[in-house]
Amino acid sequence: AKIFAYSIRKDEAPYVEEWKKAHPDVEVEYTDALLTPENANLAKGADGVVTYQQLPYKADTIEALHEAGISKWSLRNIGIDNIDLKKAKELGFTLTNVPVYSPNAIAEHAIVQAARILRQDKRMDDKMARGDMRWAPTIGREVRDQTFGIIGTGHIGRVFMNLVEAFGAKIVAYDKFHNDEVEKKGYYVNSLDELYAQADVISLHVPSLPENIHMINDESIAKMKDDVVIMNVSRGDLIDTDALLRGLDSGKVFGAVLDTYEDEVGIFNANWDQKGVPDARLDDLIHRDNVLVTPHTAFYTTHAVREMVMQAFDNNLLMIQGKEPNTPVKL
Ligand code: COI
Repeated sequence: AKIFAYSIRKDEAPYVEEWKKAHPDVEVEYTDALLTPENANLAKGADGVVTYQQLPYKADTIEALHEAGISKWSLRNIGIDNIDLKKAKELGFTLTNVPVYSPNAIAEHAIVQAARILRQDKRMDDKMARGDMRWAPTIGREVRDQTFGIIGTGHIGRVFMNLVEAFGAKIVAYDKFHNDEVEKKGYYVNSLDELYAQADVISLHVPSLPENIHMINDESIAKMKDDVVIMNVSRGDLIDTDALLRGLDSGKVFGAVLDTYEDEVGIFNANWDQKGVPDARLDDLIHRDNVLVTPHTAFYTTHAVREMVMQAFDNNLLMIQGKEPNTPVKL
C-alpha cells in the first residue's frame, strides 16, 4: 500500500516518520505543499491521500485528485467545511477526519484566554510595557463570578465546560443535540435567546454549518448582556465581524477572544512582519486592547499534532485495506 500526504509541516514530520516506522510495509511519501488542482498529480500511484484544512478544496481540486486515481482521502483535522462534499460524493470518494485529536488543546486555550480577557491582561501588559504600573482602572473580573454560555456541547465544548466548572463559574449551554452528561447537570437552556440573556461570557463550539453562519450578528449581540465577552475558537464565519466591531465600538461588548476569523484563509499561518497585515478588519481587531486574536492556533499543541497525524494515517490505511475507518465522514 502507498499513502501520499500533503502539507506535512516540519512539526508533523517526526510523527509521520514514527507512523512509517510502525508500518514498514506501507510506502509513505509526503510534501510540504498544500493540495491544489495543480499538484494533485503528485499523488498518482498512491492508494490514498492525507491532507488537512488550510485551503478550500473545491470541485477543481477534487476532480484533479480523482483524475490522479485517488478515492480514499483522510483529513488530519476536524472541520469539513472547506470541502465540496457533494463533489466528493459524486466522484466516489470515501473521506475520514479526526474529530477527537485533543479537545483539551482547544479548551485549554479558551479558558486561558477567557481569564486573560476578564483580567484585562492585554491592557495591563500594554501599561507595563510603557512603565505605567498604576492599578486603576485595569481591574479584573473573576472567572467564578461569570455565567458562561457554551454554544455547542460536543467534545470541545464539554472539555471547556469541565474547565469552567473547575473555576467555579455558572454554566448555561445550548445545543440542538443534547449530551447526557450536560443534561444531567441541568445546564441546557431551550434557546439561544435564553443563553444570550443569561451569559456573561459566550463561547462558540459549533461547526460552520449554513444555519450557523453569522449566528453572532447585530441582532444576537443586542440580546446579550452589557459587557459580554464573545469567544470564538471554532470557525470564523460564525461571527459577523462588522457586527462584532460595532459591539466593541459601542462598549456593549467587553472584549473578544478570536482564534478564527472569517477571512483568515491565506492570512493565518503566514508571516506578515514588515509587509503588514493584508486585511483592515483583522488589523483593527489585532490592535484593540480588549481583543485577543490568535492565528487558528488553539489546536496547535504537540499532543494534538501527533494525534492528527497518527489517526489520519490509521484511517487511510484502514480504507486502503478495505476496512471500516475509525472516523468516517458521512457523505
Ligand atoms: C480543525 O481541526 O478543524 C481545525 O480547525 C484545525 C486546523 C488545523 C484546520
